[in-house]
Amino acid sequence: MMTENYLDPIFPSILSTNLFNLESKLKAFEDGKIDFIHLDIMDGHFVDNLSFGPSTASAIKSKFPFQIDSHLMVDNPVKMIPHFIKNGSDWISFHVETVPGNEIPSVIGMITDQGRKAGLVINPNTPVESVFPFLDALHFVLIMSVFPGKGGQSFITGSIDRVAQLKQEIIRRNLSCLIQVDGGINASNIGILKKAGADLFVIGTYLFNSDHIDETLSLIRTNL
Ligand code: DX5
Ligand code: ZN
Repeated sequence: MMTENYLDPIFPSILSTNLFNLESKLKAFEDGKIDFIHLDIMDGHFVDNLSFGPSTASAIKSKFPFQIDSHLMVDNPVKMIPHFIKNGSDWISFHVETVPGNEIPSVIGMITDQGRKAGLVINPNTPVESVFPFLDALHFVLIMSVFPGKGGQSFITGSIDRVAQLKQEIIRRNLSCLIQVDGGINASNIGILKKAGADLFVIGTYLFNSDHIDETLSLIRTNL
């Protein structure tokens, strides 16, 4: 089981899996020493799509030793967060675009006051500086490298510079905030993201399309 000193940097996103195969895929991730499963939560408003609810977190945790990282792509995170806490999400991130700046600290507090880790997410067209005022209170920032809403999209290369810009600010202020990246990540672009300063990598389609998750995980890890 992970501690905060060690966590596997690969966060599989189950969004694009065939749900009938989910259990065997999760077993392969457990065998592959994955610590976290990334849950993409969509409300049909902030993004067009719908996906899972909070009970998916508790269902996974009832069978597997994973920690759950819930990425809330929802218009009203304040309403949703208590449900995800109740259902055992360990990390919860919400979009900077969904909450007025003066209310963001209290939303972060809703998560951290319950002993969970808080993250703030930024869309590809939102300036990276928009998260700077909150970095002290955040466990992580999630930089979207695709526009949120569905899996299987192409990686936006401009995300690499955005990671580097955020990393520079984190180092300048000597903070411990981690950088997570999500969207279109595979064995070919993960190395350059790591070099730019990313710490954690959400991977959906590339992992779930693989017939040999163990080999795909090894390939990704050799490029890290
Ligand atoms: C996009 C989601 C991502 C996505 C990642 O809205 O936040 O987590 O499912 O999947 P791939 O790797 O397919 O881009
Ligand atoms: Zn996500």
